[in-house]
Amino acid sequence: MASEVRRGRPEDVKILGELSDRVFRPNLTPGTGMPYEFPRLFHAANAQNLYFVADDQDRPVSLVATYKSVLAANGALISAISIGSVATLVEHRGYGYATQILEAMMRDARSDHSLMLVSGGRNLYLRLGCVPFGHLIRVDWPVHSEGPGRGILIREVEDFAKDVAELHRVYRSEPCRYLRTSEEMAAFLQATKAERYRARPHPTRVFVAESAGRALAYVVAAPSRDGSRVDLVEWAGDRAQLMALANRAGQAAGAKRAEWLLQPDDLTLRGMLASHGIAEHDEANEGTLLILNVKRLVDEVNPVLRERTGQGLKVVSDDGKFVLSWSGETANAVPQLPGPVSVASMGAWFFTDSGLNLPLPDTAGLNFV
Ligand SMILES: CC(C)(COP(=O)(O)OP(=O)(O)OC[C@H]1O[C@@H](n2cnc3c(N)ncnc32)[C@H](O)[C@@H]1OP(=O)(O)O)[C@@H](O)C(=O)NCCC(=O)NCCS
Repeated sequence: MASEVRRGRPEDVKILGELSDRVFRPNLTPGTGMPYEFPRLFHAANAQNLYFVADDQDRPVSLVATYKSVLAANGALISAISIGSVATLVEHRGYGYATQILEAMMRDARSDHSLMLVSGGRNLYLRLGCVPFGHLIRVDWPVHSEGPGRGILIREVEDFAKDVAELHRVYRSEPCRYLRTSEEMAAFLQATKAERYRARPHPTRVFVAESAGRALAYVVAAPSRDGSRVDLVEWAGDRAQLMALANRAGQAAGAKRAEWLLQPDDLTLRGMLASHGIAEHDEANEGTLLILNVKRLVDEVNPVLRERTGQGLKVVSDDGKFVLSWSGETANAVPQLPGPVSVASMGAWFFTDSGLNLPLPDTAGLNFV
């Protein structure tokens, strides 16, 4: 029988990566998949954030891997803990281990993180109070041969060490993103070379558009299983280059279509796509979220709320239930407040169109670092 929830030490990282592979990459040799796809997650420096329980022979049987993140969300900086690689070995499932680990982790994370982001919508997470959230737009682009405009060069990025600084600069220009250090950016790029990256059978490739030697935009293109489509799993930079990059990435993979997600506030790109006659499809962000610390969240989002509404939020009661009120001078229209609710049920009000509908970056894969 497994016992108490433990936090990893640097020497546990290897065996925890192997556990993750046994569950998520069963066709690979344990230790050769997930640790390469998520090099910062399965890293000695992040060992403390790997939560697990072990059996009576001290072998880990259930894992919840977490990564501390700051999200830039159109002006707000939001502290979040990302949850990924939630895995229990088959023969140990249904004993409540994953639930037990998540509860312990949430207790630890509550004081320093306003949000918990989870890469899934299972009952396991919903029972803990996680809710679906967000609003993104999916684009389905027909790949064709049109290249970039005059003075623009598109090339495949092969030497990541050489290009990481430029790509990092482009990444940082995005208003809605995970904050990433240059080490995290380098780790992310290197991870795209992992075998079966994002469980895809074909290699993921990175393309950059540049002018006079300076990067303007890039895409990370992962082909679908049947090869008919490339998914631009990450992209950033000058929107005017995105369609030519999608064409190039699609052609390189022999794909007929390219798909990507964009934020509803991305008016420049939406306008460009409309002028190409491209339809938009609404979709929720992948995964679910839970507010861990509503006071902290309110402090983090109030500057953008004041800009939007003239008013900020106040948390006026804290007795198991939370009561929000608006405070400020002007009386702009503001979304109706929820009644006194538990912090769990507040997630939908902040992050769906039943309330504030605050933007969050695409959480698929939770930043893949
Ligand atoms: C998902 C997974 C990690 C769960 O591990 P586990 O240790 O068996 O988890 P628990 O025993 O805590 O919970 C198992 C189920 O019992 C349910 N459960 C646990 N305690 C419960 C309780 N007291 N009352 C009611 N239901 C309960 C959970 O909601 C969960 O339901 P779900 O499978 O529909 O989500 C495991 O099945 C696994 O490794 N699956 C493959 C990998 C995967 O899909 N990971 C999730 C990626 S998002």
